[in-house]
Amino acid sequence: MSKHYKIAVLPGDGIGPEVMAEAIKVLQVVADKFQFQLTLTEALVGGAALDATGVPLPPDTLALCKASDAILFGSVGGPKWTGLAPDMQPERGSLLPLRKTFDLFCNMRPGQIYPAFADLSPLHPRVSSKGMDVLCIRELTGGIYFGEKGRSGDTAFDTQRYSVAEVTRIAEVAFQAAQKRGKKVTSIDKANVLQTSILWRETVEQVAKNYPDVTLEHMYIDNAAMQLIRSPQQFDVMLCDNLFGDILSDEIAAIAGSLGLLPSASLNGSGFGLYEPAGGSAPDIAGQGIANPIAQILSAALMLRYSFGEEAAAQAIERAVQQCLEQHIVTRDIDPKSTYGTAAVGAAIVATLQQET
Ligand code: NAI
Ligand code: MG
Repeated sequence: MSKHYKIAVLPGDGIGPEVMAEAIKVLQVVADKFQFQLTLTEALVGGAALDATGVPLPPDTLALCKASDAILFGSVGGPKWTGLAPDMQPERGSLLPLRKTFDLFCNMRPGQIYPAFADLSPLHPRVSSKGMDVLCIRELTGGIYFGEKGRSGDTAFDTQRYSVAEVTRIAEVAFQAAQKRGKKVTSIDKANVLQTSILWRETVEQVAKNYPDVTLEHMYIDNAAMQLIRSPQQFDVMLCDNLFGDILSDEIAAIAGSLGLLPSASLNGSGFGLYEPAGGSAPDIAGQGIANPIAQILSAALMLRYSFGEEAAAQAIERAVQQCLEQHIVTRDIDPKSTYGTAAVGAAIVATLQQET
């Protein structure tokens, strides 16, 4: 075995450790099957790290991340730590510094309506039965969240800035992703009113010239929000700035149904990434063994795809997940009557992977 990947495993709080345990089992099976070697090293993060060391992102954890090829992240936070100062809060105090340290400018969130579970979607069956398979790509380190801001008296302001370089690098990711999927990019903007959107649109057009096999369309954010509800199956890759992507990625999550199914990836330009479920630490169900491990398992699949280029292994995991869903081996967030817990769903996915030839 020549290929060897080092992964920093940060389970965090609440359901984080429970769902991470299942993702690790799945990773070990595909490593054997697809002939690569994994070194998985666990470290403390979030509330668990605060309790043990006094800070949400201890130096040892950051050092491990720097020495690794990717970060597999669980979830952080919970009611125990909500009263703390912003920089000490588990979420802000760990995810923001990690994004900054590793320049994770690209956030990817796939959202699907699985045909077998179209009724999970709050959309009308007339719409949801046609399915959805969207990849939302959000710029994560620029835009209005990071611009100059201020307040004086009864006036406040925020500024949005984007450079050609910033737009180019996120657009490149979107076109490359579309090449491997449905070959379509819908770039979201508000070019009828915003200067940054005009630059965004021009820059995306330039990048598109290098990807003649991908269709580019532009859509205003307000229309996109509406079209997602009316006919989500029209979208393949949606390319968004930080603000619009924040909103649309949550809309896509809501359309898809359970948070327990949705993975995410945050990447930089050199293949390094942080992979985590779209949901949080779910304190309401933590410790009961009933959390859905699928979002964490699919996050591991995204890691294999985007950081390591192990496309076959990623697809095998995604197929196994799909098969378990079709066989109705699901946790209670998907079907309240189900008796499968976290470990049972993980075990079913592992067994499916082992049976596959
Ligand atoms: P949440 O995503 O933890 O929970 C929302 C609802 O979805 C809950 O009813 C929960 O049980 C359910 N849910 C989420 N993931 C699930 C899974 N895998 N299986 C089954 N059900 C699942 O969001 P909430 O309640 O707003 O936040 C709880 C804590 O998580 C807070 O401390 C928050 O700050 C933190 N959080 C952390 C994030 C992260 O680590 N990136 C992201 C979002 C929230
Ligand atoms: Mg959000």
